[in-house]
Amino acid sequence: MRLTILGGGGFRVPLVYGALLGDRAEGRVTQVVLHDLDAGRLSAVARVLAEQAAGDPGAPEVTVTTDLDEALRGADFVFSAIRVGGLEGRAADERVALDQGVLGQETVGAGGIAYGLRTVPVAVDIARRVARLAPDAWVINFTNPAGLVTEAMSRHLGDRVIGICDSPVGLGRRIARVLGADPREAWIDYVGLNHLGWVRGLRVAGRDELPRLLADPGLLGSFEEGKLFGPEWIRSLGAVPNEYLHYYYFNRETVRAYQQADKTRGAFLRDQQARFYDEMKSPDAAALTAWDRTRAEREATYMAENRDAAGAGERDADDLSGGYEKVALALMRAIARDERTTLILNVRNRGTLSVLDSEAVIEVPCLVDANGAHPVTVDPLSGHAAGLVCAVKAVEREVLSAAESGSRTTAVKAFALHPLVDSVNVARALVEGYTAVHPGLAYLE
Ligand code: G6P
Ligand code: MN
Repeated sequence: MRLTILGGGGFRVPLVYGALLGDRAEGRVTQVVLHDLDAGRLSAVARVLAEQAAGDPGAPEVTVTTDLDEALRGADFVFSAIRVGGLEGRAADERVALDQGVLGQETVGAGGIAYGLRTVPVAVDIARRVARLAPDAWVINFTNPAGLVTEAMSRHLGDRVIGICDSPVGLGRRIARVLGADPREAWIDYVGLNHLGWVRGLRVAGRDELPRLLADPGLLGSFEEGKLFGPEWIRSLGAVPNEYLHYYYFNRETVRAYQQADKTRGAFLRDQQARFYDEMKSPDAAALTAWDRTRAEREATYMAENRDAAGAGERDADDLSGGYEKVALALMRAIARDERTTLILNVRNRGTLSVLDSEAVIEVPCLVDANGAHPVTVDPLSGHAAGLVCAVKAVEREVLSAAESGSRTTAVKAFALHPLVDSVNVARALVEGYTAVHPGLAYLE
């Protein structure tokens, strides 16, 4: 089985490789092709992987290339984990928005729109090439904003592209844990868009345990989302929101906290990772140790400003190990070996949520097998959730249409329609600001 990783010089690639190393079963991935535009980053990451694989004769073979078509030919799975414009681009996405007094964040609000506008044309080009060069490959999309990018790619790849995110899994795992349930036994009733979903129930042996959590402020205040949103607000909603909804429900506080931070998240990661990749230029650097130190610091500081604004304190030690590589591996195993499982994934709606059309990519529990990911039937969204989901999907559609047509007017519309952008004039200023700093937006006319 051959896995091609686009963005193969990216910082989180060793997590994926580590998960592959733990997989010994028949039909596992035996070849990994790393593709990146930057040969220096590729060789840095390849060094980390070589140290991970040291002494393991069964470790998947790793090759690197900067030629995209070569990377795609012969792939069984393609992971797309690219970052168009790099972390410098992410920092600019944040800064331009914060300067206009609105949220500057990787995937939510104005920052997410800017990132989407830069990424969609590149993702579409990749999708077209996959359709031509590796038509039987499955594409697993990690590239953010993951729901929007998956929808863009699905227009060329249909159901062969599946988007993944670790945040719903993490949320489900935390809720199961505080309820004393085994996360593997629990059925998580979660639905929405990527980074915009809610847990409405958690069933163990047919019984919904969520009401027990909602009734207990002590339990509610004991895990990440409970601390971020506060027990009272979660009880009011009657559902536990994905952590990214903190940017909606506490928008003023998060914008202020982000404006006051020494560095935005993107700028912090840009500087942190620049040090790591620099260190890797020295031939005697201990690659795996340096990578792991950098990873630990990144995970400990995830959403630090949100936690500060909410008085939520440090992250729980159990939440520091991520999990996105586990979702990716579980998905590949289910498809490659027909190991049936249920995973929360980003797939086309196909009637699951009646408020959206069938082509809209949503985030929903899916049954996965050799035929791909099939969304399960879920209860309808509440009025509030349906409203937000529809509003944000409408914005995503404007982004897709601006990326296709190159229309600046449509880009303004995307920003202006977003619930977290409070004026059409702000939207105009955002388009001015973003096109001035991002060469990747030169196509907007
Ligand atoms: C979570 C999200 C991912 C995102 C990551 C960002 O895992 O689900 O979509 O890429 O956080 O974390 P960062 O360390 O880059 O701020
Ligand atoms: Mn995510």
